Amino acid sequence: MTAHRGITMEKVSYTIGGRVILRDFDLRLEPGVNRTILGVSGVGKTTILKLILGLLRPDSGRITIDGTDIANLTERRLMAVRRHIAIVFQGGALFDSMTVGENVGYRLLEAGKLTESEIEAIVLEKLKFVGLDQTVNLYPAELSGGMKKRVAIARALAADPDYIFFDEPTTGLDPIGVYNIQQLMLRLQGEGKTTLMVTHDMPTAFAVSDRFSFINEARLVFDGTETELKNSAVPAIREFFAPSASSLFHYVEQEDEA
Ligand SMILES: Nc1ncnc2c1ncn2[C@@H]1O[C@H](COP(=O)(O)OP(=O)(O)O)[C@@H](O)[C@H]1O
Ligand SMILES: [Mg+2]
Repeated sequence: MTAHRGITMEKVSYTIGGRVILRDFDLRLEPGVNRTILGVSGVGKTTILKLILGLLRPDSGRITIDGTDIANLTERRLMAVRRHIAIVFQGGALFDSMTVGENVGYRLLEAGKLTESEIEAIVLEKLKFVGLDQTVNLYPAELSGGMKKRVAIARALAADPDYIFFDEPTTGLDPIGVYNIQQLMLRLQGEGKTTLMVTHDMPTAFAVSDRFSFINEARLVFDGTETELKNSAVPAIREFFAPSASSLFHYVEQEDEA
């Protein structure tokens, strides 16, 4: 059984409106090996997460979750496979009209498998994990940005997933907020969850990741460890870590031609 665990993308291509976002893209998320996907804004990082979740369908290539090819699954089977994955979306995406507790518990309520008191206990446990059990009856508008992110994490944990995706979880947070998210991610990893993150926040990426994927112009240009990444000779990676005037002029020239 364990031989098939993990998530794979093999030669995945994806095009939107004639524009190639991903070309022959490969990704491996092995249980216990936490990964961060890097690349400039708009390159296709969120798209990768959506493809794995089955929210978008690739033009070609293969995506598997714990050994199951997600192409051509019925909606019902896809839901069952997807239950092992939770995502903390960019911005948190909480429902403003629901309390914190309702936000964390609504999917369990929808699933209709647990009693209200069982759900309440899970909601409190997950909120306690992120240090926010005191806020259960508050509304999102009453929370800081960092607290909202932590509620979004509690919500992601409610269904007890094996894999947790984080889309830019520290963007816009102050240093304490960033630290809290890093610590939560490390604790989740310590409890056996596998994380896949998209970020531009390199200190956080280095703090919580074992491996890195770098995407440039629709292709995977790097897959390796922190040391390998820092020593990479790939031009796009060197530019990412130390932007230079040449990229600015390159950009301006392109603008002028348009
Ligand atoms: N629904 C859409 N229609 C057209 N283009 C889109 C759509 N969604 C995303 N894109 C484009 O696809 C590219 C990749 O988007 P995304 O995966 O969100 O990038 P990233 O997360 O790396 O910033 C972007 O250039 C974006 O403009
Ligand atoms: Mg994105």
